[in-house]
Amino acid sequence: MAALAKEKTVAVAGAGTMGAGIAQVAAAAGHRVLLFDSQPGAVERGRMAVAEGLARLVERKRMAAEDVDILMARIRSAGQIAELAGAALVIEAIAEDMAAKKALFRALEDVVAPDAILASNTSSLSITEIAGALRHPERVAGLHFFNPAPIMPLVEVIAGFGTAASVMDTLMATASAWGKKPVRCASTPGFLGNRVARPFYGEALRALEEGVTDVPTYDAILREAAGFRMGPFELLDLVGIDINWAVTHAVHDAYFHDPRFKPFRIQGEMIASGRLGRKSGRGFYDYRAGAEKPMPRTAPRAEPPANATIEGDLGPAAALVPRLAKTGVLIRRIANSAAATLDAREIAHLHGAILGPKFRLALSDGRTATERMASDGGLALILFDLALDYAATPRLALAKADQAAGDALAEACGLLQEAGIAVSVIDDAPGMAALRTVAMLANFSADAVHAGIADAAGVDLAMQVGFNYPRGPLAWAEQLGLVFVVRVLDNLARTYGEDRYRASPLLRRKAASGGSFHG
Ligand SMILES: NC(=O)c1ccc[n+]([C@@H]2O[C@H](COP(=O)([O-])OP(=O)(O)OC[C@H]3O[C@@H](n4cnc5c(N)ncnc54)[C@H](O)[C@@H]3O)[C@@H](O)[C@H]2O)c1
Repeated sequence: MAALAKEKTVAVAGAGTMGAGIAQVAAAAGHRVLLFDSQPGAVERGRMAVAEGLARLVERKRMAAEDVDILMARIRSAGQIAELAGAALVIEAIAEDMAAKKALFRALEDVVAPDAILASNTSSLSITEIAGALRHPERVAGLHFFNPAPIMPLVEVIAGFGTAASVMDTLMATASAWGKKPVRCASTPGFLGNRVARPFYGEALRALEEGVTDVPTYDAILREAAGFRMGPFELLDLVGIDINWAVTHAVHDAYFHDPRFKPFRIQGEMIASGRLGRKSGRGFYDYRAGAEKPMPRTAPRAEPPANATIEGDLGPAAALVPRLAKTGVLIRRIANSAAATLDAREIAHLHGAILGPKFRLALSDGRTATERMASDGGLALILFDLALDYAATPRLALAKADQAAGDALAEACGLLQEAGIAVSVIDDAPGMAALRTVAMLANFSADAVHAGIADAAGVDLAMQVGFNYPRGPLAWAEQLGLVFVVRVLDNLARTYGEDRYRASPLLRRKAASGGSFHG
């Protein structure tokens, strides 16, 4: 299906933050844009905001001054709804209020041509419900831009219950023609990105509640080891802790309190105490004048051990072994089954060394180190967390079993430090920090595909281009191994005894069949 022809007029209703940005995008693509707002002066303020943004582009030599005039001339003011009659596409970006949106759409239906498309930029309201109030619901869809609209590439193109396929196709093609990365999805609470992203915040908030580590350390692990652009607490502060809380609640309510989406108490307490994030001067971090950003906890430099044992088929973490071997420390690999039977003395004997290794390192699998060590009785167990790239990661989280002595942990730290890796020691939480987050993001992604909200390529694209994830969660899960990801989730579900961590049936099925989401 072809994109909306450049000659067609686009109307934008609501000239606030989003409306002005969307008007700029449509005008930059060559359309005549009619900007409408119910508040006097709002359209002029919207045009000014566009002009100021463009002036900054000219300053930075990213746009020619004469192109600014051409673009601004395309954005005209509409004083009355009736003036939108000639628009082939109306994009609504008024207040997030269902009654107001329904009233506007009903008024638009009386004005525009029968084949005009009516789109809403709502972040959370049901497209099906907005369309349900109209004579022709098939022409209504969501066109969800992210803020700032001229910069953010992701656009969720959202089908309501009765949206015509041709309308979806036209909007997909049009958003592409406007230089965006559109993703097709169904109208469900949180749509696609905001639904799939829930555990990025949820797992962090739970870790904080459970004292796994502190805020800057958790953020540093997710940023430096897992490769996310920002840590969850930094992002919560940026977005607004109250805004994120409202989305979490809306999704939780809409799914009839499915524990998957359960909010965490600590977030409510932050709001009750007035800490809303950057906008209130304090959130998880302190933004008041003179406040210093706290440093993540990094283990002090320790002596590397003479030798070390690495347990199990490391799979996704295999690249860590040559990196550790380069330190000159004698690295011994043992299989899972062998670990249960080898004790420190036997290993020392095998090495012919006077001092046997004090510890074994293993990748977390969703169980605690303490539970694993209790069940296999082997050497002191130190678990490491997920990293995006073990060959290059600058940081890695470690956790020790309760039964393991402190000097075992110090030796493990010394080994990683010798390989140029900063170590954050965290509590022995199941699935640690990065691993459980990524496993849950993959789980939510698989659920979204299973529920027909989007396809796998769409989910991965949305999370990469819209949320700056270093990899699409499903592609990441495939790289880790779907069987491994399901094992991590099963271990989390068993350890917590909570339905929150139940593995998506589709993820389980793909893991069982050896299939892939992308093939
Ligand atoms: N701000 C964001 O980060 C963001 C991101 C994505 C989507 N959204 C969604 O976009 C929409 C607009 O958000 P915003 O942040 O631009 O809001 P905003 O408050 O900046 O602007 C809303 C504008 O709509 C006008 N308006 C209100 N009722 C109207 C009506 N009945 N008819 C015409 N104009 C009306 C207001 O006068 C105001 O100028 C909301 O649905 C919001 O959920 C916002």
